[in-house]
Amino acid sequence: MLHVDRLTKSLPDGRVLLNGISFTVSRGEFVGILGASGAGKSLTLRCILGLTKADAGSARLVEPDGRSFELTSCTGRNQREARRRMGVIFQGFNLVKRLRVLDNVMIGRLAQIHPLRSWLYGFTDAEAEEAVQALRQVKMETYADRVTGSLSGGEMQRVAIARAIFQRPSLFLADEPIAALDPSNSLAIMKLLQPLSRTTPVLGVFHQPEMTARFCTRVIAIKRGAVVYDGAPGLSHAELEEIYGDELMQVLRPTPPAAPPAGSEPGPAVGLLLPNHPS
Ligand SMILES: Nc1ncnc2c1ncn2[C@@H]1O[C@H](COP(=O)(O)OP(=O)(O)O)[C@@H](O)[C@H]1O
Ligand SMILES: [Mg+2]
Repeated sequence: MLHVDRLTKSLPDGRVLLNGISFTVSRGEFVGILGASGAGKSLTLRCILGLTKADAGSARLVEPDGRSFELTSCTGRNQREARRRMGVIFQGFNLVKRLRVLDNVMIGRLAQIHPLRSWLYGFTDAEAEEAVQALRQVKMETYADRVTGSLSGGEMQRVAIARAIFQRPSLFLADEPIAALDPSNSLAIMKLLQPLSRTTPVLGVFHQPEMTARFCTRVIAIKRGAVVYDGAPGLSHAELEEIYGDELMQVLRPTPPAAPPAGSEPGPAVGLLLPNHPS
């Protein structure tokens, strides 16, 4: 369980970035964070991870066995242990492209084994089998020996999720995990995250309200550093308008049509294909 309590962060010039962010994430929840660009979504995740120090407030992770980590104030060994308890999935995958897929998955637990063992012996057979199992969970087990750099974006994101699964975290944190993917890969990733959340809660930032409405159990909206909505995942148009302001049309943009079948007539040139000309 994650308890975020009145997180506050300001810049030296007085600009308030986070203005008392509070929410909880419990077992069995898949919580989506929505909000316009610059609202403070990533910063909230960074404070939870202890990557940015909040000025005030706290974030506490309570493990199923009752152990508790003060994420905003712990340091050193405690902080490393706390970070290990959180499986992070980013938009940019953060994979080592020259390594095999399986090696990238095993990196998920590198911080948990003694440095001497990682140098001398590497992972045990049981650990390797568990990493393959994590790949199986994201339907990528046949890619285990492939060089990661040769995969597509959707495949890399699946590997990143397998790496987080292999870490056996007590919370998954995802920052725009589908922002760089096409609609069908985005859907596939949401379909992987949803069942994961039943055993380990997922807190993720998303830019697509239609995805959070369909897959999340709850939605939190952040606007100018404050929580302005915390409730059912299906938000009304008026609520979304209030949250996004001028950005609303961007997030509600209809899904682009699939590419025409090979050999069909090319459509009219659009977007970047048009030469710039004064209007
Ligand atoms: N380390 C930082 N130093 C200064 N400003 C920051 C820092 N991190 C984030 N910000 C600012 O805080 C605001 C929220 O950023 P962020 O949480 O990244 O937005 P988003 O909701 O798009 O993820 C933005 O205005 C951003 O410029
Ligand atoms: Mg962000």
